[in-house]
Amino acid sequence: MRKQALLLALLGGILAGCGSGAAEDTEPNDGNGNTVEIQEDRQNTEDMDGKDTDKRQNGAAAAGSVEVTPGENGGPSTIAGIPIVNKKYGVSPDYAPGEDPTAAAAARQLIAAMQAEGLDVSDSWSGFRSYEYQSELYNGYVASSGQEAADTFSARPGFSEHQTGLAFDLKHSSGALLENPAEAQWLLDHAQEYGFIVRYQEGWEPVTGYMAEPWHIRYIGELAPEIQARNIPLETYLGAEGGGYAGE
Ligand code: DAL
Ligand code: ZN
Repeated sequence: MRKQALLLALLGGILAGCGSGAAEDTEPNDGNGNTVEIQEDRQNTEDMDGKDTDKRQNGAAAAGSVEVTPGENGGPSTIAGIPIVNKKYGVSPDYAPGEDPTAAAAARQLIAAMQAEGLDVSDSWSGFRSYEYQSELYNGYVASSGQEAADTFSARPGFSEHQTGLAFDLKHSSGALLENPAEAQWLLDHAQEYGFIVRYQEGWEPVTGYMAEPWHIRYIGELAPEIQARNIPLETYLGAEGGGYAGE
């Protein structure tokens, strides 16, 4: 089953990769032999708390279960062409591709479709976030809620999908994050038609590393319907390691 999924991912994943602004100005990498080493080096530069950086590694790659391709220019690692960012897979502090144009166009279409059905969704979203901005957000949450709580809903800088330009937090017209049942259910039913998955869902916390976020959609491309239909986290679909930060 996974083999079939990954084959399809390989064929279709190009779409997600193509949408990335980073793909246009990247240098070729030198293959798979350096996967773990490169990832560890990058994570060492990202580490904000100085804990256990030497223990960090790409779990799935180290286990030999899936092929993880290191990102170019500090961008996200990919599995079968699909970028993966979670508490195990980070990006470099200076990786700043901005909003992915393909993903943003798809998000605008999705929002227009919701609005056409009378659903309460704003034209404004929280999309691309720089490493610096994510630092401000995360540090603010740590200050107000403590680190343990903050880690359940906010990514540490260098570990947010928002830094890839492929993630969007949708909002109600009030400016509040989208969480009302009608809108949240619509996303579960239809986001995939626009190339998105609802990335953080109830019950997936041990795998994704975060509490459910009905508002956070992640652009995947043409494989989104398959992932959403299987109703599994992206990590499970890809065979990628998820959960908490390495070494903790
Ligand atoms: N709220 C998500 C996990 C983030 O900070 O990227
Ligand atoms: Zn988000």
